[in-house]
Amino acid sequence: MGEGPSQSTPGTTPAPRDKRNPRTTTPPSTTRRSVHAAVAPTQPPNQTPTATSQQPAASSQQPAASSQGYPAAVTTSRVLSIALHDTDQPPLRPLPIEAAELLHDVDAPPRLVAHLRAVHDVAGQLLEWIAGRNLDLGINAEAVLFGAATHDIGKSLHPAELSAPGAQHEEAGRALLMAQGVDSVMARFAATHAAWTAQEAGMEDLLVSLADKIWKNKRVPELEDLVVAGLVVASGRSVWEEFLDLDSVLTRIGDQADERLAFQMSHPADGSGR
Ligand SMILES: [Fe+2]
Repeated sequence: MGEGPSQSTPGTTPAPRDKRNPRTTTPPSTTRRSVHAAVAPTQPPNQTPTATSQQPAASSQQPAASSQGYPAAVTTSRVLSIALHDTDQPPLRPLPIEAAELLHDVDAPPRLVAHLRAVHDVAGQLLEWIAGRNLDLGINAEAVLFGAATHDIGKSLHPAELSAPGAQHEEAGRALLMAQGVDSVMARFAATHAAWTAQEAGMEDLLVSLADKIWKNKRVPELEDLVVAGLVVASGRSVWEEFLDLDSVLTRIGDQADERLAFQMSHPADGSGR
């Protein structure tokens, strides 16, 4: 689907993943060697700690993490600048450095990078909410964040899908990530983010899909029902209670959609990002 304002580890083969049980997901990492490893830290200074169900992340009220402190050579690229530099309005978390480097290497269009940063930030907000509830959804937050940060990377190969509906970027994105050395567990989000009813999609995939809708305040009942079902299993509460709580957080995050849309649309859909 288009993204216009009118629309809404290391070096090893990952263990098999239970189709519907994200608890068995292999701890995330890419097999890909950082091209900037010699000059860049593995994560931005002051970055919001990775949210996990066991390790609550910083409050969503805190400002987005800063990219200050990166060596200038790392952020001279347009892609890396959009992916990592501080944003004022809205404040958005910087992308994981591995994702930013991948986007640089495939010469992702500026608007695509901005879109991924917006969706990644929403995924971070959802993870913070889950962590704040101490819910054990059996998810790996780092995988969700990487998935949100790369889910549309296939649009580098199909740029028309930045502004018009289309699904060619989905499997193309998975293949592109794997060609770049990312393992299949971490690459799958590129293919599953628009296929939340697929057997391959577990709770981690659902959260990436949800972030890819809520960033622009688009509500998809079918998708939200699947997330609610997972919350009910984890919490033991009623469907209605979980629906109300999820609706509340999605409404809060969705209220910032206009700012995220403006940020995304301020970057051109074409042109090199390098
Ligand atoms: Fe997207």
